Amino acid sequence: AGYYLRGMPKGFMHIEPILRPLLLSTTKGISDLILQDLLARYGGVAPKMAEEAHSQVIDQVVQDALDNANLTEADLSAVAVTIGPGLSLCLRVGVQKARKIAASYQLPIVGVHHMEAHALIARLCERDLQFPFMALLISGGHNLLVLAHDLGHYLQLGTTIDDAIGEAYDKTAKWLGLDLRRSGGAAIEELARRGDAESINLSVPMKQHKDCNFSYAGLKTQVRLAIESKNIDAGIPFSSASIEEQGLRADIAASFQRVAVLHLEERCERAIQWALEIEPSIKHLVVSGGVASNQYVRARLHEVVAKNSLQLVCPPPSLCTDNGVMIAWTGIENFRLGRFDPPPPAIEPEDCQ
Ligand code: KG4
Ligand code: ZN
Repeated sequence: AGYYLRGMPKGFMHIEPILRPLLLSTTKGISDLILQDLLARYGGVAPKMAEEAHSQVIDQVVQDALDNANLTEADLSAVAVTIGPGLSLCLRVGVQKARKIAASYQLPIVGVHHMEAHALIARLCERDLQFPFMALLISGGHNLLVLAHDLGHYLQLGTTIDDAIGEAYDKTAKWLGLDLRRSGGAAIEELARRGDAESINLSVPMKQHKDCNFSYAGLKTQVRLAIESKNIDAGIPFSSASIEEQGLRADIAASFQRVAVLHLEERCERAIQWALEIEPSIKHLVVSGGVASNQYVRARLHEVVAKNSLQLVCPPPSLCTDNGVMIAWTGIENFRLGRFDPPPPAIEPEDCQ
């Protein structure tokens, strides 16, 4: 935590000085890096393999975070750790580590929900962000529209009925033969800048459903069919395709992005109306999660929010994609209100190995 917090711009932090640092387990963040690495190397990930990879690095990662912050475990006041959602075997590695530190130093533990952390990190970035506010959380596994009444008190306005938008970005990137070493979403965002967003005819999902839910499975199918109809071979990497075909791939990326984001715009528009009826004092829409680091997404949603006289709050991209700061921050928010578990039983010397 210290490592990330130190790297932030001056004036960014406003934690009460009485709180000594909270350590976080960056399990979910590491998780994605490890999963991507395994995916790139082996073309797939078995949960057991991912668990082993996590176990191998967890001690070093925690030690590095402490070293970077010039802290030791004895300096901590609590341990925050992701408890879900995610691959349970991997989450367990983080939880076990957190319990071990907490037991050794008799520290309270704060269990953190990954998606709540995506929303709450916005309160670290924007000091004026008070409850109630709205949040659109867009990641690889989730698409959520929520009304945040108060800490731990959220009303779900919409969710995905199948895939999340990040999954659609990732599959489109794969089918277009893009370099997946960084995220598929970032690769599509970059390629889309070179394409004609109106060139491929794709329809906006769930037009006939007048609610705030999402669906990206159908759009994925539309994209795959468009790719097939243009005879694009996903097996040929983008860089090896002809100039003409690269242009075609860029057109598909841009058209996909336009429609994927239009779906977000429409749902947000309706959700704002719903939310204001329930809580007329709402002033902000938070957009967070990996996909919220996309500049096109941010610009389009800014329009929607401004039209409705609200303010958009997007954390900087490094805090939108999975990161440890958001887990630590959510730990701090809960800790301040006394919401934590007592320290686990102290480890007896004979239990230590
Ligand atoms: O929140 P996150 O880091 O991890 C999960 O909790 O899933 O989100 C990861 C997702 C991936 O699908 C990734 O492709 C997407 O966020 N993403 C982006 C961008 N950067 C990451 N999608 C669109 N544009 C981006 N620039
Ligand atoms: Zn996430």
